This record gives sequence, structure tokens and C-alpha cells, in this order.
Amino acid sequence: MSIALMERPVAGPRDASTMRALVYHGPGKPSWETHARPALLAPSDAIVRITTSTICGSDLHILRGDVPTVADGRILGHEGIGFVEDAGSAVSAFRKGDKVLISCITSCGKCDFCRKQMYSHCRDGGWILGNTIDGTQAEYVRIPHADTSLYPLPAGADEEAAVMLSDILPTGFECGVLNGHVQPGDTIAIVGAGPVGLAAMMTARFYSPAVIISIDLDDNRLQVAKTFGATVLINSADGKAVQRVMETTGGRGADVAIEAVGMPATFDICQNILAAGGHLANIGVHGKPVMLHMEKLWDRNATLTTRLVDTVTTPLLIRSLESGYLEPGRLVTHRFTLDNILQAYETFGNAARHKALKVLLTAR
Ligand SMILES: NC(=O)c1ccc[n+]([C@@H]2O[C@H](COP(=O)([O-])OP(=O)(O)OC[C@H]3O[C@@H](n4cnc5c(N)ncnc54)[C@H](O)[C@@H]3O)[C@@H](O)[C@H]2O)c1
Ligand SMILES: [Zn+2]
Ligand SMILES: [Zn+2]
Repeated sequence: MSIALMERPVAGPRDASTMRALVYHGPGKPSWETHARPALLAPSDAIVRITTSTICGSDLHILRGDVPTVADGRILGHEGIGFVEDAGSAVSAFRKGDKVLISCITSCGKCDFCRKQMYSHCRDGGWILGNTIDGTQAEYVRIPHADTSLYPLPAGADEEAAVMLSDILPTGFECGVLNGHVQPGDTIAIVGAGPVGLAAMMTARFYSPAVIISIDLDDNRLQVAKTFGATVLINSADGKAVQRVMETTGGRGADVAIEAVGMPATFDICQNILAAGGHLANIGVHGKPVMLHMEKLWDRNATLTTRLVDTVTTPLLIRSLESGYLEPGRLVTHRFTLDNILQAYETFGNAARHKALKVLLTAR
């Protein structure tokens, strides 16, 4: 994608009331500029000083103009790690100096949806960071409902690996693996070998599937998928992915098909490779309608699920990270300092050319 690189001069000397941040000024126009530092607005808020952040595929959707809720002037980013700089009077779980993981989903913990563990639909939260309120691609960020939207990290935590737990690991796990009901011995197919598809692959291994089919257009990403446990690699550029999955499975199909792209063509692959009793777990954000082939699916005993990540599994994933079972740090392909974020966007926005998966941003 093409991005107009805008660097606005720092207005005067830096002082305690300002910071540098990546600000959205309309499609294709991110700018690294001086911005007022966030302040506590409610007693349940915390201010976090960012040490590590990263860029998500959803940030690219925003820069393409696909997310109309993002207004001009918004600081982007919904993934990050940092230290609590200030905490409101109602925050009881964290205090200044604590190292924290920021969840991409903000949750009040009290509303009807939060009480059903559907934090993504929190009545005073959900995906708001870097969307309807200022986000994490900045030196400081305000986190509402800090007690239930931050997670404690040990001071020595590997930030490169842990920052993958802000969004992509819970996304792949909850929307793909848990909703897809991956079982021991299953044949699973994951369409899309981007960071989210690979996160689904990593966490699917909790359940020991027998066959893991990875489908993508990018041979480099398919090779990376192999290192994460894919047993069958299919480049779908020739339009024969369905046929090849059917051949590989002896005509049976996949018990679980995980859609991790968000396009009609990839959803179509998923619905055409489902074994009887299969689960189609959609993760991809869709901008266009897709055709649901009920004339083929009606007798398949199939289940279709959709989900916005709730981040309810974050504590479990932190424990798996600490035990060494998960190694999401292997998704990091490029590293930049936070003030080189525009270069990081260029790299991530042209991922195939740069062989990029996740780009890491470190505050100096
Ligand atoms: N549901 C949620 O809560 C949630 C959360 C985060 C991200 N997402 C979505 O998950 C999706 C994946 O995210 P990502 O960061 O991994 O994106 P990405 O763009 O890095 O990866 C998508 C992959 O799909 C491949 N692809 C594209 N067209 C294809 C085709 N026709 N056939 C096969 N492969 C194809 C690309 O080569 C790429 O490797 C995106 O739609 C993202 O917005 C959803
Ligand atoms: Zn995201
Ligand atoms: Zn809530």
C-alpha cells in the first residue's frame, strides 16, 4: 500500500505535557508528531508509558479508510506493553511502576456483556483503543477501566513475545481454535498464514490436531507456517486449493476450517473443504458480502462461527508463554525504534516484499 510519510516538526522543546505519537489524518496519511500527553479522565483510568508496541493488519485497514469510526487526529495502535505512570483513585490492581500488557479490548468488567465474558462487546469498551480513543503507538496512552483492561507482567518478561498477547494470540486462539472446537486427531485447515493465521496454528497445537494444512498465496509465509507445525502447505494462487485439500484428506475434508484472511475467495475455500460435522471458524474482518452455499452445506452437520476477539484467554496465554510452550516472539521479523514508526508502517504495509510478519516498535 502507499503511505504518505509525514513527519511534523517538534514544536519547541519537549516538555512534560507533550509526547510523540502516530496520528491518523485520513486514508494513507499517518503522521509522527508532537501531541499532548494523555491525562487521567476517570478514577478507573491509568496512564501507561509505552516500552514496546507493534502494528496490526487492522491498522492497515484503518489507513485504507476501511474503518469509518476512526476520526482525523486519532492516535493509532491497540497493542503494547509499558509501565504504569499514573493510576486513578479507583484503580486497585495496579500502581505506578508496574509492568503491564495492554489488551486490545477494553472492558469495564461489570456490564451485561462483560459478565458473559464477551468483553469485545463491553458497553463502555470493546475495541476502542486506536479506534474511537487514542491508542498505543505513542509514548504514553490512557487506558480506561485499567483494572480489567491491563494484565500484570513480570518485570523481566520478554516484551517481544508478550506483546503478541495484546491481540493476535487471543484472536487466533479464541476466534479460530476455541470457536472451531479443534480436537485431538483432527484435520484442520488454516486459510491465511499472516500473523493471525499463524497465531491460530500455534495455539491449535494445545489440542494436538493430527494434520495442519496451511493455505496462502505467499510461499515465504507458507515456509514460516511449516516451522510452526503445518504438515501440508498449499499455495492457492492456482485456484486449486479446494481440490488439493480434498486429495490430501482422501475426499473427507477438514474437521476445522479457520478463515484468517477476510475475503470472499478465502471464505469460499473454507466452506468447500468442510468435512461432515465440520466447524468453519471465521476470524477475518470482511468488507464485502460473501455467498453462503447452503445448497451444499445444509446436510453437512456444519457449524459456522464468527467472533470479535474477547481477550478472555489472555491470562491462560500469559501462563503458556511463561512456561515456554508458546513462542510468539518468533513472529517478529523486523525491529524499529518507536520514532521510526513510519518506516515500520512501510515495511509492514509491503509485507510480501519485505518478508515481514510482525514489526516490533521499541521506545527509546
Ligand atoms: N475477528 C477478530 O477479532 C480479528 C482480530 C484481529 C485481526 N482480525 C483479522 O484477521 C485477518 C488476518 O489478520 P493478519 O494480521 O494475519 O493479516 P495479513 O494480511 O497479514 O494476513 C493475511 C494472509 O492472507 C493471505 N491471503 C490473501 N489473499 C489470499 C487468498 N486469496 N488465498 C489465500 N491466502 C490469501 C495473505 O498472503 C496473508 O498472508 C484480517 O482480516 C484481520 O483484520 C480479526
Ligand atoms: Zn489488531
Ligand atoms: Zn463491560
